[in-house]
Amino acid sequence: MSTACVVLAAGLGTRMKSRLPKVLHRLCGVPLLQHVVDTLERMKPDAIVAVVGKHAEMIQRSLRGSPRLSYVIQAEPKGTADALSHGVRALTPFRGTIVVVNGDTPLLTAQTVKRFVAWHRRKRNDLSLVSFVATDPRSYGRIVRDGRGSVIAIVEERDATPDQRNICEVNSGVYAFEPNVLGLIGKIPLNEEKGEYYLTDIVRIASERGLAVGVYRARSGDEFFGINTRDDLERAERLMKSRIVNTWRERGVDFIDATSVFISAGSSIGAGTVIYPNVHIEGSTKIGSGCSIFPNVRIRDSVIEDGATVKDSSVIERSVIRKGASVGPFAHIRPGSTIGERAKIGNFVEVKNARIGSDTKASHLSYLGDATIGKGVNVGAGTITCNYDGYQKHVTTIEDGVFIGSDTQLIAPVTISKGAVIGAGSTITKDVPPYALALSRIQQTHIEKWALRRQKKRQSDEKDRKRRKPS
Ligand code: UD1
Ligand code: CA
Repeated sequence: MSTACVVLAAGLGTRMKSRLPKVLHRLCGVPLLQHVVDTLERMKPDAIVAVVGKHAEMIQRSLRGSPRLSYVIQAEPKGTADALSHGVRALTPFRGTIVVVNGDTPLLTAQTVKRFVAWHRRKRNDLSLVSFVATDPRSYGRIVRDGRGSVIAIVEERDATPDQRNICEVNSGVYAFEPNVLGLIGKIPLNEEKGEYYLTDIVRIASERGLAVGVYRARSGDEFFGINTRDDLERAERLMKSRIVNTWRERGVDFIDATSVFISAGSSIGAGTVIYPNVHIEGSTKIGSGCSIFPNVRIRDSVIEDGATVKDSSVIERSVIRKGASVGPFAHIRPGSTIGERAKIGNFVEVKNARIGSDTKASHLSYLGDATIGKGVNVGAGTITCNYDGYQKHVTTIEDGVFIGSDTQLIAPVTISKGAVIGAGSTITKDVPPYALALSRIQQTHIEKWALRRQKKRQSDEKDRKRRKPS
């Protein structure tokens, strides 16, 4: 049986009071609409159509593309029914079940949608929808049933009678349509007061025509929580956050204080990894197993391989930390860097667009930018790659087994060949041949007894001064 999905995401989202389209607001770092699309992707439908409004271009740029996903524009937000008719047109000539989801319901899970669609088919319904019992039903359409318990209509808060307002069973905004119901979308009248065509009116129209309309009542409402305001967004953030933490915890991740961490919905963490308090894992970061991520670390769009350690207060952006490597405390790994296996990047070391080989150590106070550094290199404290001449960036190459003494400046472009040694305090401007010693400091000289002579001079100067001073 074939399934296609339509996501309604063209509303103005006025209640968010935002210049950003509502569906691009982020929940655990991921746009609301991306959460919904990801959920639908997991059902592997034939196609997913997102109905978007005037911000179509921005929305397309902000979402991950996928072969299944296409967009259709609803130029005027004339209501959910009008939005769906755009979606249905874009799906022509598809003739299977169409699953419709609101784009502002990011907590929805694929498991629930799958169960719902299976139920809809088992019941051989023409039209089904998911309901739940809400503690505060005010922002949802109420499910109106007849004396025998069959659904006959959905009524929105603003159109409900006082009696209907007391109904706590509400519409989740998740529907399944068989092709024979689609023609009824055009029969939905304009809601004069709101100036919109309500998709929910299709329930009344279909049941009046004797079609099989069914309501699948979900056990909990959390998944269908619709984001209309910033308050809603904050509540959803809390729900999503605990869902993410629980998912990783069940897969063997240890959180020392789960309440203080931020883990983006697009990240993953391997078993046996320990996450200390106040760690932020952002974007699409992948952390392997058996890693330790100490307090106050921020990692964005990076890969941390198995057994790596990131010590306190370090920042890692768009970089790769290979197996068993150690970074920090207080290290900054900037975009485009790779830290090799078992390598050590210590305190106050900044690395930018640099490849650091395995077993290499830069333990203290260095800047390594636009550099390729081989295996087993020792980078002494205070080493600086001088990569910028005020106009352009230049590359520093350090080959395997090099030893760089402390407080060295490497004026790029420059190459330090295999096995070379740089004396501490050198300023290196020329390429260094393999296994050579490079030194660029002036010779040390000693002036014998100079300090004693200075002491004596000071003492006699002091006596002279006192003698001249009138008593
Ligand atoms: C809607 C339902 C309500 C349900 C609730 C569940 C209607 C009339 N009401 O109310 O019964 O309980 O969802 O969360 O459908 N949209 C468009 N084009 C438009 C208008 C809206 O694409 O012209 C999209 C919005 O971007 C949004 C979704 O449709 O993602 C729902 O619209 P929204 O205005 O949030 O409807 P609710 O008032 O929440
Ligand atoms: Ca809504």
